[in-house]
This record gives sequence, C-alpha cells and structure tokens, in this order.
Amino acid sequence: MSPGLAAACVGLSLGAGLILPDSPLWGESGPIGSPGRAAVCILAGVGLLAAGWLYSLLFCPLELLRGLDVGYIAEDGRSRAQAANDVRRRRKTGELPPVYPNGWYRLLDSHLLHRGQVQHVSALGEQLAVFRGHDGKAYVLDAYCPHLGANLAVGGRVIGSCIECPFHGWQFSGDDGKCVRIPYAKKVPEFAKVRSWPSCEVNRQILVWFHCDGEEPQWTVPEQQEITKGQWVYRGRTEHFINAHIQEIPENAADIAHLAHLHTPGIVSGVDLRYTNSKIWEFVRHDWKVQWEPESEPNRHCSQMLVKHSLTLFGLHWHLLDVDVVARQVGPGMVFLLFDHSYLGRGVILHCVTPVEPLLQCVSHAIFYQSNILPLVPKFILKAECIQFERDVMIWNNKKYLTKPLLVKEDSAIQKHRRWFSQFYSENSPQLRYQCDSLDF
Ligand code: FES
Ligand SMILES: [Fe+2]
Repeated sequence: MSPGLAAACVGLSLGAGLILPDSPLWGESGPIGSPGRAAVCILAGVGLLAAGWLYSLLFCPLELLRGLDVGYIAEDGRSRAQAANDVRRRRKTGELPPVYPNGWYRLLDSHLLHRGQVQHVSALGEQLAVFRGHDGKAYVLDAYCPHLGANLAVGGRVIGSCIECPFHGWQFSGDDGKCVRIPYAKKVPEFAKVRSWPSCEVNRQILVWFHCDGEEPQWTVPEQQEITKGQWVYRGRTEHFINAHIQEIPENAADIAHLAHLHTPGIVSGVDLRYTNSKIWEFVRHDWKVQWEPESEPNRHCSQMLVKHSLTLFGLHWHLLDVDVVARQVGPGMVFLLFDHSYLGRGVILHCVTPVEPLLQCVSHAIFYQSNILPLVPKFILKAECIQFERDVMIWNNKKYLTKPLLVKEDSAIQKHRRWFSQFYSENSPQLRYQCDSLDF
C-alpha cells in the first residue's frame, strides 16, 4: 500500500472511529450535537486524505503506466480501444526491416521481481518466465515447459535457483534450463531442457540478450555507477505500448526537423496533436538544438544525440531553465538520457524499447536522480518527458514505415541513422510474416 493511501485509510478509520455512537470523546453528553460531530469527522477525514495526497505528490515515485490505447483519435462515439484496432487493421505495412534486431532488451525493473518470485513477460514474440532465485539472481527461461507445455510463470514455484513447473513438478535450473528433477521418474533424460536466455541485471533493470543465430552477447550494458552506489535514486517510471516497427522509435533522435514542429509547443498544450498548436498556450515555447552522431569503434553499437533545450515565456528566454541532455543510445533497445543542470541537479532517464510482437513495442522510462534533490524535480522532468513522448506516440501509432522516404538535404541524419541501425540486423533476422489484426484489450 502506498504511504498516501495508508494515510487516507488512517484518516477514514479515524473519522469512522470518531462518529461511533459509543466513542468516549463524542458520547451523548458530548460538547456538540450529531451534525457538528459528523462535520468535524468529515473535515478530519478530508484533511488526512489531502495530507496523504500531498505526501505522495512530494515523495512517492511517479508511476504512469499507460494502456494500449494512447495515441489514437476516438471519433464518432467509438472508444479509443476501437480506434486503435481500426488503425491496426487498416495500416499498410509495406516493406519493413526485420522485426527483432540483435541486442539487449529490458524485461523488468529489478524492484518488480523479489526473491522467490516469478513473472511472465511477453517479448520478442516469445513467452518468458523471469524469476529471481533464492540466491538473489534473476533468470530468464522460455515460459513453456517441454513436458506438456504448462506455463512455468503461471503458478510455477522457485526452488533455490530452479523453477518448478506447476503441472507435474519437473524442476528446471535457471542457469542453463536443464531439467534437474522429475518427482515421479527414476532418471532425468539428458535432453530434458527448456531454452535459457542470456540475461543481466544492471542499473536496477533485468535485461535479456537476443541474437537471431543464438550468438553470445557482443557488448555489455554500461553500468551507471551513480545508480549502483545509491547516489541517484529511483523516482518513477512510465510505460507505453506502441503500435509501430521498433526502428521508428530510435530514428526519432536523428529526425531533427520534427523537434521544431512537434515538440515546440509547451507541455501545457498536451498530447493530442489536433490541439497542441492552440493559440491559448502559444506563450510557452520550447526550443531545441540537436545533433546526432554515431560513436566509433569499439562503441560502434552506440550513438549520441546532444540536445540543448531552452524555454521562452511570452517571448522571453528563461536562461535558468536551459537544460543540456546527452541521449546515448546503446544498441537497438536502450537510451541513457543524462541530465546535468547547475541547480536542478543530475540524473538519468533510462529509455528502453522492447519488441513484444513485430509491430508492438513496450517502451519504459525510468528516472534515477540525485538523492538530495527534491523528488518533485525528477517527477516533473519525467512527466514533461512523458507528454513530449506521447506526441510522438500519436505519430508512430498511425504512420507507415517508409523504406524509401522522400528526404531533403536537412534530413540527412535520418539516412545516416538507418545505416547505423542496420548493424543490428543479420541475415537470419526475423521478418514480419503475418500480422495480427487486432490489439487485445
Ligand atoms: S507440463 Fe511441466 S511438468 Fe508437466
Ligand atoms: Fe520526438
């Protein structure tokens, strides 16, 4: 239970206690009558609710977990869920790059998996069982048991560093997926095995390595020392599901022209692109100066976007709100957005894209920030990032991927980005063969 909710419950029970007829404070002979008592109790309850709300606003992490229907326009009395399904059915996919690039992908934030717990995760077109052994280590196995196909993540039990299938009790080692025990058989066959995935846990995230040919990891996920040492602490996360090819999302970093068009209106203008250019909020403008470059060997799998952000209010430039951000992309599925500001402090947003299906991406942003900075600062940064991001979501959810876009000279970074990104595909990278025609709500 969140502290805010706890305070609210205390408030309500206190209120309820006070209005009990046999309360010693408010007996028949009490100083005020029943209406007065009720009013005081309601006020006490409301006051505590407000205190709980204020506490969670100021101190609790911000969690914005969006459904599958963000970024669609619901018209003619339809729900946004129906609009999402219509868009998905209508979409022309055309020619697409392979759908699962080779690289590291986030599966879960570490705090969502406790010792002895198992979680089911859909990623890369597969169903995975992610569990934390009693040794504290996180393991990733295929979810389906090779015996008769039960899902290890649904009712499976963690035993040491193994997981026990809920159907007949076979046990599989988290390290290599080998079956180590069949409770009713004398011998465990050599070949009894479930696929185990290379994984790592770094920056408070559990990541999995995908390579279409089963090759070992070709690079490691950089550790953000400040997170490991506890100098930067967790202040919140967002989660979105996006109906697009994975490449659309990182390509945004090299699409410099879209910043001036899509992201210039102030965040108060909201996320619905039909209204973001409304005259009412025209007095708030963001200005972006951006450069995108790939890194060289041995970090060829990385690229950097350097962002200079400034804010104008009624045409006046507010220098104190100038923010420089380095967005370092590592492989196809991770970006480290590093903030360094003279008085707003330092921190990072970990932006992760994990393909769930060929045209469905799970995108998470987790913010870690200097522990001595008021949590409201990183929470505001995350909220602002979320608003700007949801404007992109509306574009991605409704667009078509063009293999041969009509570009002008000023768009040249986009082609450069496509060449850079192509290193994550290899000959056997999976291609889209069929498309589901609806999202499940
Ligand atoms: S299906 Fe898993 S043990 Fe039988
Ligand atoms: Fe964008």
